[in-house]
Amino acid sequence: MTEFPKKLKAKLTERRDNNALRKLPMPKGLIDFSSNDYLGLAGNEAIFIKASKLLEKKGARANGATGSRLLTGNYNLYAELEEALSSFFGSESALVFNSGYDANIGFFSAVPQRTDVVFYDELSHASIRDGIGMGRAQSYKFKHNQLEDLSRQIDRARENKIDSDIYVVTESVFSMDGDTPDLKALSVLCLSKGAYLVVDEAHAVGVFGNRGEGLLNELGLQDMVFARVVTFGKAMGCHGAAILGSDVLKSYLVNFARSFIYTTGMPPHSLATILAACEHLSAPGVEQQELRDNIGFFKDQLRAHELEAYFIPSNSAVHCCLVEGNEKVKKWAQHIQEKGFDVKPILSPTVPKGQERLRFCLHSFNRENEIKDVLLILSDLFD
Ligand SMILES: Cc1ncc(COP(=O)(O)O)c(C=O)c1O
Repeated sequence: MTEFPKKLKAKLTERRDNNALRKLPMPKGLIDFSSNDYLGLAGNEAIFIKASKLLEKKGARANGATGSRLLTGNYNLYAELEEALSSFFGSESALVFNSGYDANIGFFSAVPQRTDVVFYDELSHASIRDGIGMGRAQSYKFKHNQLEDLSRQIDRARENKIDSDIYVVTESVFSMDGDTPDLKALSVLCLSKGAYLVVDEAHAVGVFGNRGEGLLNELGLQDMVFARVVTFGKAMGCHGAAILGSDVLKSYLVNFARSFIYTTGMPPHSLATILAACEHLSAPGVEQQELRDNIGFFKDQLRAHELEAYFIPSNSAVHCCLVEGNEKVKKWAQHIQEKGFDVKPILSPTVPKGQERLRFCLHSFNRENEIKDVLLILSDLFD
């Protein structure tokens, strides 16, 4: 075998020297404070059985889609699923992508055009930034959740580029912070400035909304946005994503989104599982209330242990405690893990240097005593 390129070796060495080398962890059977399975649906047997029965009923005894959806990979379950998603999330149309990553790179590489401008929150997920990077529009970041900064930048762009379409993208729950922009004010701002608003709801689906339709729905703002990205690999416990918007947006993406066109469609069991998870959320269930109770209890405990000041304010399932420096945050996470709790350190460069953190993901199935115990361990670390 030829020698591994020296330049790449040097990059790995630099990562190791910065205490930031990524490795694939194996499950250790710890108490889950780190997965995105907020409602415990990934292991929900009723959903598994419902999906299997649906496949039997449809006679969909295939292991794979056999091709791109534009060639041989489209089939009835896709139409059924997209119809069900439009109805569940309250949108004119839904287009399923193989993942949230694919949805974001597909959208942002295809929709904003060369003469257009994209404004994105500086903490936007990598998939949004990668998509923008693959596209041809000019792009500028705005300060995290700061609408005055965004407004100023839009005005400046409008002065110089009268004919440009302007796109604004944010997340309704930030994946590495758990916080939320003022979505109402943002929708109004975009409307008043004629900008197209795109909201990634990956971490809000299943958590917010009456049945888990997301935060825009909970706030009644779903019709004020140009597009929503919803993902199924987090609270819905399965895999895949959809872009919600108008029929014409769907048609545009089918024609121009390369991550949709040039890839094999999803296998029938993936679609059946999303359908079953969607049905599960539509019926009155206990998981969402349990999650909400746990979020409330976690916040009460933060106050009781005087830990609030170390945490980024959040009403979502993601709660982050700032612990500066890769070495320190890794050491703290290891200590907490040794006590039996799976809390992950988030290192730079995933987050900006100096803002390394412990990320606590809360779930419907976490017990109150687990929350109490893990925060007690954290509190001792601060002493
Ligand atoms: C905000 C956000 N958008 C998109 C994605 C990508 O979703 P998926 O895991 O389905 O590729 C993630 C995943 O971490 C995310 O946090």
